[in-house]
Amino acid sequence: MKNYFKPAVFFFSLWPIYIITYQLFYNQLGPEPVDRIINHFGEWTLIFILLTLSMTPLKKITSSLEWIKFRRMLGLFAFFYASIHMLSYVGLDYRFDFEPLIDDVLKKKFIFIGFSAWLLLIPLAITSSDKMVRILKKNWKKLHRLIYLISIFGVLHFIWLSKTIFFKPLIFLIILIVLLLFRINFRKFNLS
Ligand code: HEM
Repeated sequence: MKNYFKPAVFFFSLWPIYIITYQLFYNQLGPEPVDRIINHFGEWTLIFILLTLSMTPLKKITSSLEWIKFRRMLGLFAFFYASIHMLSYVGLDYRFDFEPLIDDVLKKKFIFIGFSAWLLLIPLAITSSDKMVRILKKNWKKLHRLIYLISIFGVLHFIWLSKTIFFKPLIFLIILIVLLLFRINFRKFNLS
């Protein structure tokens, strides 16, 4: 039975693609389809980052190692959706015109921090394989702690672009704080 978990998580992780394909096919993207696509993948990127961060707390709470098996896949999906999110902004919004785009990255702090989060995800995706875990040894863990910074950048990006914390950004912020508190507590009591 357990052998089916990984493929099941993989197919469920494709949910954002099913939704957007359905909405595209049935003309349900609304009056601003480009914004809809960008926001859709932005939100799912954040969801997958938080899901990735949830695996260790879930391992502790349930005393089951099973959760850790999904962590890499969820993290790679976060990178996948972040890249689609970024590419839809660059390709659909700016039609790959890089000059105004660079201007945006430098002038709008929410774009700057979103872009930084995406850049920081790249080394994590590249070093996600078992081979890289062996090569990097202790440094692998240190490098992958970047996910905490990335998650903070992701939430800040959402708060700044929304111009208000109410309500969706606040929900993401609360979930992030809870997940980060888990790490702090476990480290402090030497349980991780
Ligand atoms: C880890 C990386 C990132 C995360 C977690 C993230 C997350 C999000 C979220 C949650 C939204 C709002 C969705 C909603 O309103 O429902 C959003 C919107 C947006 N993001 Fe990102 N993002 C990331 C990277 C980027 C990058 C690299 C860019 C561009 C270079 C970018 C540009 C935008 C833009 C333009 C919007 C729409 C803003 C608007 O509605 O005016 N994001 N993102």
